[in-house]
Amino acid sequence: MNVDGKKYRTIWLAKDGDSVEIIDQTKFPYAFEIAKLRTMEDAAHAIRVMQVRGAPLIGATAAYGVALAMRADSSDEGLHNACSVLLQTRPTAVNLHWALDRARKNLIRVEPAYRAAAAFTLANEICDEDIGINMAIGMHGMELIAAISETKRKGEPVNILTHCNAGWLATVDWGTATAPVYMSHEGGIPVHVWVDETRPRNQGAFLTAWELGHHGVPHTVVVDNAGGHLMQHGQVDIVITGTDRTTATGDVCNKIGTYLKALAAKDNDVPFYVALPSPTIDFALSDGVREIPIEERDGSEVSRMTGRTDRGDIQTINIVAEGSDVGNPAFDVTPARLVTGLITERGILEPSRQAIAQAFPERVKMSA
Ligand code: MRU
Repeated sequence: MNVDGKKYRTIWLAKDGDSVEIIDQTKFPYAFEIAKLRTMEDAAHAIRVMQVRGAPLIGATAAYGVALAMRADSSDEGLHNACSVLLQTRPTAVNLHWALDRARKNLIRVEPAYRAAAAFTLANEICDEDIGINMAIGMHGMELIAAISETKRKGEPVNILTHCNAGWLATVDWGTATAPVYMSHEGGIPVHVWVDETRPRNQGAFLTAWELGHHGVPHTVVVDNAGGHLMQHGQVDIVITGTDRTTATGDVCNKIGTYLKALAAKDNDVPFYVALPSPTIDFALSDGVREIPIEERDGSEVSRMTGRTDRGDIQTINIVAEGSDVGNPAFDVTPARLVTGLITERGILEPSRQAIAQAFPERVKMSA
């Protein structure tokens, strides 16, 4: 998408053809900085410390991580090592497993001398595919927004609530939950986005707000607990979130707090949709609450906050009473029964095993 008139993806092969560049997301919203990944360890570090984050972008970065590893050691052992190091970086987003599985299966068949080149080609392919998937999600999701818009007075915006950042910064481009928003906005449908701030890492306030703002999409940042109130007062027409892992039965794992939004949406008859690129489906799992590993992150993310002071310097402060324990589960699971529909690249699906399997028969076969 555009940043100050220049088109960017979130990750790309550097001009030297040898390293990979990313937008360093730990600097948002105060600075827009590019970081260079020269080694597999750089890629693993970028995922671990969340210089890159969001399920699809984690997968794409891991694919480039394998390519960087192959340049240093393209033996079978080098390939297995790279995959196992990268696999340990974050536990919840299944796109990481998907990308590494794909890389391992493809590259093991290639002669070691050609592996680095093949791995870079594969990583580029994964990135291009991600963009295609998100554009298709955007087209399907836009139909939902257009239908709501038709029920409104001329010029009145469709109010969309989103949680966390499932925007272009979480993918290679377009985003998942935001693709329908960007396409509607560009297609002349008036939209307004309620952006949950998404404590503790503030992906909504720092990232979603930043990218919507740069694209000129009207939006309002609200605290995470405001959604229910807004829904009770008819101020939300539709909820669209992303997902880090969705089971074969349609249970959706996403950033902590998503489940509460789904409950509030159900109680208020607000449609709750999840934008779901197919690499985010885990066909091996049926019960999201029991089976999806939930990342537990450092308590300091809860007890401390970093921001820019009025003087312009960046400071970190403590916000929890001294001596209190803190917990920091990073994701939760919304059961399929609370999900109105899954916006996939192959259309809008009911969140059920049958509908998902019918739409992606080749993935079901692969996982059998
Ligand atoms: O911890 P993060 O920032 O990686 O979590 C990201 C999310 O939860 C996103 O909503 C999800 O990955 C969907 S991204 C298209």
